[in-house]
Amino acid sequence: MIPRVRLPDGTEVPALGQGTWHMGETRDRAAAEAAALRAGIEAGMTLIDTAEMYGDGGAERVVGEAISGQRDRVFIVSKVYPHNASTAGVARAAAASLRRLRTDRIDLYLLHWRGAHPLAETVAAFETLRARGDIRFWGVSNFDVADFKELPEGAACATNQVLYNPERRGIEFDLLPFCRARAMPVMAYSPLGQAGRLLRSPALAAVAARHGATPAQVAIAWSLRDGSTICIPKAARPAHVAENAAAAALRLTAQDLAEIDAAHPPPSRKQPLGML
Ligand SMILES: NC(=O)c1ccc[n+]([C@@H]2O[C@H](COP(=O)([O-])OP(=O)(O)OC[C@H]3O[C@@H](n4cnc5c(N)ncnc54)[C@H](OP(=O)(O)O)[C@@H]3O)[C@@H](O)[C@H]2O)c1
Repeated sequence: MIPRVRLPDGTEVPALGQGTWHMGETRDRAAAEAAALRAGIEAGMTLIDTAEMYGDGGAERVVGEAISGQRDRVFIVSKVYPHNASTAGVARAAAASLRRLRTDRIDLYLLHWRGAHPLAETVAAFETLRARGDIRFWGVSNFDVADFKELPEGAACATNQVLYNPERRGIEFDLLPFCRARAMPVMAYSPLGQAGRLLRSPALAAVAARHGATPAQVAIAWSLRDGSTICIPKAARPAHVAENAAAAALRLTAQDLAEIDAAHPPPSRKQPLGML
């Protein structure tokens, strides 16, 4: 069973979903990528994160293929480029994303990162999409606490998608508590550290060995540990998809968490928001 997390209005979404960065970049891999996403949906990872940026629209096309015939089972997250975040730009970009996704609604639409367009204009454009039923919720990505202070008063932001894994935990100092205080789940991107150094961490390996799990599963369980974070690992290989879904059942102990803290300490002061 995949645990669920509440958005600020109480709507429940899966805490463990699937990322799509680098999908849809080449035609020859698209069918396998869509099959991987479908396998993930079958395993309960029904939240899918994509963006107009990924594969220059190609990832949204792969998602469209993966969800065809089962739209109502999935919760689709997509993102608009900052340079498209004007009134007219948001309307155009969302329409193009809807076409590529072959659906009539995006469940959660995010501003990918901050750009030059005034936030009030972007939020108003998101609210227009919401009123039309083109999107159900909107949110932001790569926002630090100071960025939130510039959002219009009372703005109904549903999430903040940020870099978060045991090696990149700067948000724990202030951003995570800030979002928690607003009942706004954080969406952890690159939870596996893009399969780089993090998955070779001796601390993660030791915890994994105790549980008969893999370091990737420990990283996923770590990001799900507080019950209020959404984790979106990307996996194009079927074995990775199965492994990631199974990580939802892994419960880390206090000793596991202490060992991870010792190797990858939480922040003791404000850090600049990490971004990829
Ligand atoms: N908002 C933003 O600015 C932003 C930035 C970065 C990412 N994101 C989103 O977050 C998603 C996840 O982040 P990410 O793609 O950067 O990195 P990630 O999920 O941390 O890592 C993806 C890499 O890990 C591999 N992998 C997956 N499962 C594995 C497993 N069980 N064992 C070993 N390796 C495994 C994948 O390989 P295979 O694909 O070969 O299976 C891929 O190479 C993205 O896809 C995207 O949707 C958002």
